[in-house]
Amino acid sequence: MKAVSEVCPLCAGSGWKVVPDAPERGVKRCDCQLRARSDAIFVAARIPKRYEHCELSNYEFEGSHLQLAPARMAACRFVEEYPVDKTGLMLVGTIGTGKTHLAVGIAKALIREKGIACLFYDYRELLKEIQNSYNASVQTTELALLKPVFDAEVLILDELGAVRPSEWVWDTVSLILNTRYNDNRTTIITTNFADEPAASVSRSLSPARASRDETLGDRIGERMRSRLHEMCRIVRMDGADFRQRFRSASFG
Ligand SMILES: Nc1ncnc2c1ncn2[C@@H]1O[C@H](COP(=O)(O)OP(=O)(O)OP(=O)(O)O)[C@@H](O)[C@H]1O
Ligand SMILES: [Mg+2]
Ligand SMILES: [Zn+2]
Repeated sequence: MKAVSEVCPLCAGSGWKVVPDAPERGVKRCDCQLRARSDAIFVAARIPKRYEHCELSNYEFEGSHLQLAPARMAACRFVEEYPVDKTGLMLVGTIGTGKTHLAVGIAKALIREKGIACLFYDYRELLKEIQNSYNASVQTTELALLKPVFDAEVLILDELGAVRPSEWVWDTVSLILNTRYNDNRTTIITTNFADEPAASVSRSLSPARASRDETLGDRIGERMRSRLHEMCRIVRMDGADFRQRFRSASFG
């Protein structure tokens, strides 16, 4: 049974509202429909609980965080210009500078303001999902299982390079990113690794665990790094670790 208060006062449940005045005169989708859609795509975006508080509006970029102002500005401009400009963003910086916060803030703004379907994936989760999509009995990856990652209008890939996958898993990551590029779909990436070419250490010789001075080139290879430069604008985010600040902040 539907309570009276649940019936939308604007459209009385029809989903359409009358706009009496020019220039938009006519019948339009009611606000309640847009809200319902944004609620649905919000759930589908799979933003982790831990980052639910992250908004562009509560991202600090003044005072001692002034060096983060250009990154926030790039994020706001991205939201404004999407989908006219579909170039993605790659947020590159040291730990705790708010890369994930900004990426989630972008996704939430796109959902709320433009009804764009976004999908959040931690890189490790994606690798796991790729592994799970491998069907041993026919010895192939069932790409259909990864369809949401291929198809998401905007994919947020958090912590690219954080772990190093086996070769066939990496091939699937490449396929996903390249297919998204070819289909003109937008990818927002965050990474801790400096956006620099691979050092001379060969991929197979470097350890699975990231060493401090490894570059993005070391972690994902020059070929993919150059592809990401075509797909994304690079946004540098350097500064103090926000988590340290919260830990040492005094309350009261
Ligand atoms: N500029 C900021 N304004 C407000 N809160 C921030 C800001 N930067 C980070 N935070 C908060 O600090 C915490 C850590 O930020 P976040 O996880 O986004 O950092 P990160 O750069 O993604 O770190 P990592 O490299 O470890 O992934 C989060 O709770 C986030 O909301
Ligand atoms: Mg992060
Ligand atoms: Zn309504």
